[in-house]
Formats: sequence, structure tokens, C-alpha cells
Amino acid sequence: GQFWHVTDLHLDPTYHITDDHTKVCSSSKGANASNPGPFGDVLCDSPYPLIMSAFDFIKNSGQEASFMIWTGDSPPHVPVQELSTEMVINVIANMTTTIQSLFPNLQVFPALGNHDYWPQDQLPVATSKVYNAVANLWKPWLNEEAISTLRKGGFYSQKVTANSSLRIISLNTNLYYSPNIVTLNKTDPANQFEWLENTLNSSWQNKEKVYLIAHVPVGYLPFSRSTTAMREYYNEKLIDIFRKYSDIIAGQFYGHTHRDSIMVLSDKKGSPVSSLFVAPAVTPVKSVLEKQTNNPGVRLFQYDSRDYQLLDMFQYYLNLTEANLKGESNWKLEYILTQAYDIEDLQPKSLYGLARQFAVLESKQFIKYYTYFFVSYDSSAICDEKCKTFQICAIMNLDRISYTGCL
Ligand SMILES: *[C@@H]1O[C@H](CO)[C@@H](O)[C@H](O)[C@H]1NC(C)=O
Ligand SMILES: *[C@@H]1O[C@H](CO)[C@@H](O)[C@H](O)[C@H]1NC(C)=O
Ligand SMILES: *[C@@H]1O[C@H](CO)[C@@H](O)[C@H](O)[C@H]1NC(C)=O
Ligand SMILES: *[C@@H]1O[C@H](CO)[C@@H](O)[C@H](O)[C@H]1NC(C)=O
Ligand SMILES: *[C@@H]1O[C@H](CO)[C@@H](O)[C@H](O)[C@H]1NC(C)=O
Ligand SMILES: *[C@@H]1O[C@H](CO)[C@@H](O)[C@H](O)[C@H]1NC(C)=O
Ligand SMILES: [Zn+2]
Ligand SMILES: [Zn+2]
Repeated sequence: GQFWHVTDLHLDPTYHITDDHTKVCSSSKGANASNPGPFGDVLCDSPYPLIMSAFDFIKNSGQEASFMIWTGDSPPHVPVQELSTEMVINVIANMTTTIQSLFPNLQVFPALGNHDYWPQDQLPVATSKVYNAVANLWKPWLNEEAISTLRKGGFYSQKVTANSSLRIISLNTNLYYSPNIVTLNKTDPANQFEWLENTLNSSWQNKEKVYLIAHVPVGYLPFSRSTTAMREYYNEKLIDIFRKYSDIIAGQFYGHTHRDSIMVLSDKKGSPVSSLFVAPAVTPVKSVLEKQTNNPGVRLFQYDSRDYQLLDMFQYYLNLTEANLKGESNWKLEYILTQAYDIEDLQPKSLYGLARQFAVLESKQFIKYYTYFFVSYDSSAICDEKCKTFQICAIMNLDRISYTGCL
């Protein structure tokens, strides 16, 4: 079987080409757009045509997929006062309607992102206008039980089809995101941990396999030292749960960082037990101070339809510079994971072996990985010794003790 993963669309409805480059998009926050074209600019969030080009590509790719996962962040990066609850809901509704009209027969499993709320990051622990709105918008994709927990806490689980033994668990990890002050000092926001353990345990009893999807990833950020995206306490708690149920968690899929990265969770003895994939964004946005950004990307996973083991991943991208020059979008294959790195499959053991190859001095595999990290935006980007240490430690160590040991 196959499924698509799209994330971090970040539509900027204000995007338009104009001579005054400070006025091209609100998401450039007053800076001059760098080289704006019909498919966007690296200082701006996605214009609608960029998002359409991504979905048109998926639709016309000739690939048969059983479902799609969509891991959140639809609104633009703009100052809080430029948005409102209504505007956030409108953008999510726009993206939902866009997907539903292009793919009327495709099963989609969404997860909420930290930008899918107003004010951003402050996702609450009880029902809210946004949770209610998405529960209504996503009714065509989700069953009653899923809609009910989504309405209450922004998370849900559902089997992929009524007769399959694959379950999607869509976590609201925004509750654990460090800037979320609503959940400060709460041991189990929205009782999601309790629900997750119960859900995993019943999957285990029913001999199901689970794909875990969420926006904010667990583990350490690969581009900085000793920084988790979640509060550390929540990270440790999730890692404990994932280790306990690693036999049935056949894959984990995240967004949020806008970069392409992998992680391998090991058990306490150091054996690899779970494969995690962070997908790059569709939006190419960066801040003025950042040198690198990502080209827009979407990806396709292949799995064994008997046991849902992950077999391979196809990463597709749009060369934004080229698309703007030519005035047409030509989405292309960037790489196939097993072929790019000469590994057998996407199992924890295979990814762990790959990470050990990355760690070798001047590893060619790692140089490739670092180019793909930015979705081939700049193949001359160099990852020095410090940079590489943070990358490797983040790939292989998701809890504090092992990460600290790695450094
Ligand atoms: C934007 O570019 C114009 C023309 O080059 C320049 O005059 C202006 O100072 C720039 N504005 C900012 C905010 O950089
Ligand atoms: C979504 O927003 C875009 C850009 O603002 C607009 O052109 C398009 O018509 C909207 N689509 C839907 C389905 O609301
Ligand atoms: C499961 O259901 C789907 C449609 O819901 C159907 O296409 C498929 O053939 C069924 N598979 C089995 C093994 O019954
Ligand atoms: C959280 O706990 C810390 C330490 O106990 C305390 O200083 C702080 O005021 C608490 N914050 C909230 C929002 O309850
Ligand atoms: C699931 O819960 C049952 C009953 O509480 C317990 O015996 C079992 O060990 C749990 N399964 C796992 C994998 O922890
Ligand atoms: C993207 O397109 C630009 C302009 O045509 C080109 O210089 C660059 O090498 C391309 N990047 C990739 C990864 O192909
Ligand atoms: Zn994002
Ligand atoms: Zn995010």
C-alpha cells in the first residue's frame, strides 16, 4: 500500500506580486520579498497557486494511495493581531475544502498544528471554537468516536478502513509545545496521555498496528543544542509510552520543523525499536536572518499491506526558483529513501545502521542527508562539526539521558 504525507501548508492569502516588495505578503513582516514569483518567495508563506500545484501534482502523479496524512499548520506566520479565531478557521476550511474537492474519494487523516489556533500555540485542554470547527469540517473523513474526541481535545484515533487492522492515532502534541502557556504545570493536559495509553493498549489487545501522526515532533531539534520542541517532561513521558508499545507502533509521522529529518527511537538498552519521519513543509518561508530554507515538498510512503511495515519513502519537491523563472510548476522526485542510502527498508534497524554511517567522519551519506534536510534548496550548505553533532545526536537519541550521553 501507499499513502501521502503533506504538512505545513501555511497559506498566505495576502500574497500578490507588486513592485513594492515590502507589500508582497504579510508573512514577510515588512521585509522586502527576495524574488517573488507566481509560486511564492522564500520570505513568504505559500500563495494559493503553490498549494494547488502540490495537490495537482499528487492528483496527477499516477500513484495509487490508500490514504493521506496531513499534519497541520494551515495559517500564515504573521503577528498575532493580524489574525483572529475566525480567520484561522477560514484558512483551515479553505484547505479542507480544497483537498476534499480535488480528492473526493481519498481518506484523509489530519492532525492539528500549533498555528491552527488563535492566538497561535495556545491550543486548549477542553473544547473550543477551533476544535468544534475542525470536527465539523473533517466529518467526511472521520467516524463519530473520532469526531467526539477531536471536539474535546483536538486528538482522535480511527482504523484506516473498518476491516483493516491499521489504526491511525492523531495526537495533539501542541498541548506539549513549549510556548503553550495554557498547559504549564499540567501533568496530563486534556488527559491525552491516559487516552493514548488506553488506545494503544486496546490496539495491542486487538492485534492492530498503529501509525502515529502529530504536528510537533518528539525528540530533540536537529539544528540546535539540547532543545526539545516539547517541554522536556512531556517528551520523556511520550518516549516512555512509545517504548512500551513499540511492537505495535509501525511508524511515526510529524511536521512542524519544515525540514526533512529522520529519528530512530531505541529502547533503554540501546536497541532500535521505532522509526520516526519528520516531513518538510510545503511553505518555503524563512526569516530574513536565516540563510537556508526548504524547497516545497510532499512525500509518499510505501508499506507492506499485510503487516503495515514501512518499506520505502518517495520525497517529491518543487524547485521554487525554477518554477518562478519558468512560470510553471514542475514537481519532481527528489530521492527514494532506500535507494539514496542503499538500505533495505525503513525499519528501525535499517535507519539505525544508516545513522551510524552518517556519524562517520566526512560521511558522503550524511552530506546527502544534509542537502535533503533543506529539500535541495542549497546543496553547498555545509554542516560543520558542531552542526553535525547536533544532527546525529537528534537522529539517534530522543530522551534526555541518551541525548546528553551522545553530546
Ligand atoms: C526594500 O527595498 C527598497 C528598494 O530597494 C528599499 O528602498 C527599502 O529600504 C527596502 N525596505 C526594507 C524594509 O528593507
Ligand atoms: C482559498 O483561498 C484562496 C486564496 O485566498 C482563494 O483563491 C480560493 O478561492 C479559496 N478556496 C476556497 C475553497 O475557499
Ligand atoms: C476492506 O474494505 C475495503 C473497502 O472498505 C475493500 O476495498 C477491501 O477489499 C476490504 N478488504 C478485505 C480484506 O475485506
Ligand atoms: C508552575 O509551577 C512553578 C513551579 O512550581 C511555579 O513557579 C509557577 O508559578 C507555576 N505556573 C503556573 C501557571 O501555575
Ligand atoms: C494492557 O493492559 C493490560 C491490562 O491492564 C495489561 O495486563 C497489559 O500488560 C497491557 N499491555 C501492555 C503492552 O502494556
Ligand atoms: C533549481 O533551479 C535553479 C534555477 O534553474 C538551478 O540553478 C538549481 O540548480 C536548481 N536546483 C536543483 C536542486 O535542481
Ligand atoms: Zn509550520
Ligand atoms: Zn508548527
